[in-house]
Amino acid sequence: MKSSLVIILFLSLFLFSCKRDSNSENQPFYYSTEQEFINNNDGLSDSALIGKLIFFDANLSEPVGVSCATCHSPMSGFSDPRHTSFSEGSAHQFGTRNANAISYMTFAPNRRAEVVRGIWETVGGFFWDGKAEFLNQQALFPLMNPHEMNIPNFGIASTKIKHASYYPKLEKLFGSASLADSQTIVFYAVTCLQAFEQSYQVNQFTSKFDFYLKGKVTLSAQEMRGMQLFNDTTKAKCSFCHLSKPVYYATTDKILFTDYSYENLGLPKHPDLSGTPVDSGLAKFENNNPAEVGRFKTPTLRNIEKTAPYMHSGIFSTLEDVLKFYNERDINPDFAHPEVPATMNTEDLGNLHLTQQEIADIIAFLKTLTDGYKVPQ
Ligand code: HEC
Ligand code: HEC
Repeated sequence: MKSSLVIILFLSLFLFSCKRDSNSENQPFYYSTEQEFINNNDGLSDSALIGKLIFFDANLSEPVGVSCATCHSPMSGFSDPRHTSFSEGSAHQFGTRNANAISYMTFAPNRRAEVVRGIWETVGGFFWDGKAEFLNQQALFPLMNPHEMNIPNFGIASTKIKHASYYPKLEKLFGSASLADSQTIVFYAVTCLQAFEQSYQVNQFTSKFDFYLKGKVTLSAQEMRGMQLFNDTTKAKCSFCHLSKPVYYATTDKILFTDYSYENLGLPKHPDLSGTPVDSGLAKFENNNPAEVGRFKTPTLRNIEKTAPYMHSGIFSTLEDVLKFYNERDINPDFAHPEVPATMNTEDLGNLHLTQQEIADIIAFLKTLTDGYKVPQ
């Protein structure tokens, strides 16, 4: 345990000193197929390029056939392009959570306490429940998770990496002497995965909203109305949690529409999970504190148009379903049975009195957050 902590520390230091890819702020990254995405490596650092090759390597899973991109495709905002509530892994197993869109998650702070809306709250961390406290822990979980890539141990993982076409690149970058044992090989591979996740290819900032912020395009009247409702803390209240300004404890000054807090929205249990235990969410990693049961992380809303279904259990198929829930939770019998009533947020949602037109406006605004927008010439 101690030695792996040392490795993690060492890797963090290493990453910190790594050459970052030459982020192409001024040359937006566009692609229309996954193959086009795969082929374009302009400006990626060596480590991010290796990470990208690992990300698309379907030979890593046990049995082979599933890569990270199987459940986190660049064609669907880095969420599951099959758009199922639960994702099928290499061993034909399913987990009980919806695959996160992993774009923009890299900017989350490490899991810790911060004052959020006046109270100390847990913020940051990775996965729906914050189970990875630090960014450099998150890539290891899916490799070894039986519901995902199902690699049983470091020995098998490192053998697979050694046989991969990118292994010589890994040796060149880190030096073959440092790739001495299986654990170190896996940790270097994870370091590269992380570099890719941090690259401009995963965090593109090419939405209409981004160009609007730069003054290069105007929003339509409907999109403007939607944005105002979104930000109105007496009306739709979205920006209470999906913050539409930068957060000082995040590692970016860009707007990501989250305060990284954990909330229980009072969602009903997904029907496919009926009879299974309550999903305790954040509580599992907070000493089973009853006050944290059923709380899940507030995700970014960037690319939300492309990442259906929605919520930690993928319970809603459309943005209309999501808005209906926020608007009517407390008055619609369909939503009368939250999975965890005790910790539910009863202040900021549930009966918002939004009209159908206002809902359509908010959704029009949310659709301005999709990457790949081209400013009309
Ligand atoms: C079989 C589908 C599947 C595969 C394959 C898969 N993932 Fe995931 N991924 C998921 C699911 C489901 C979650 C949400 C799990 C949870 O929160 O408990 C997730 C969550 C994540 C997160 C957390 C994102 C956030 O917003 O906090 C990261 C990072 C991630 N995956 C990276 C990867 C990487 C890297 C790989 C390849 C090594 C990979 N995943 C392979 C299904 C998959
Ligand atoms: C009290 C904080 C809070 C408020 C207010 C709030 N949200 Fe959320 N939002 C969350 C949390 C937390 C989740 C994830 C909940 C879960 O999966 O259990 C979420 C999830 C979502 C999702 C699904 C994201 C995904 O990746 O699946 C969408 C879309 C969304 N919110 C839109 C909105 C809109 C639009 C509003 C305003 C009408 C709003 N939210 C208001 C906290 C909030």
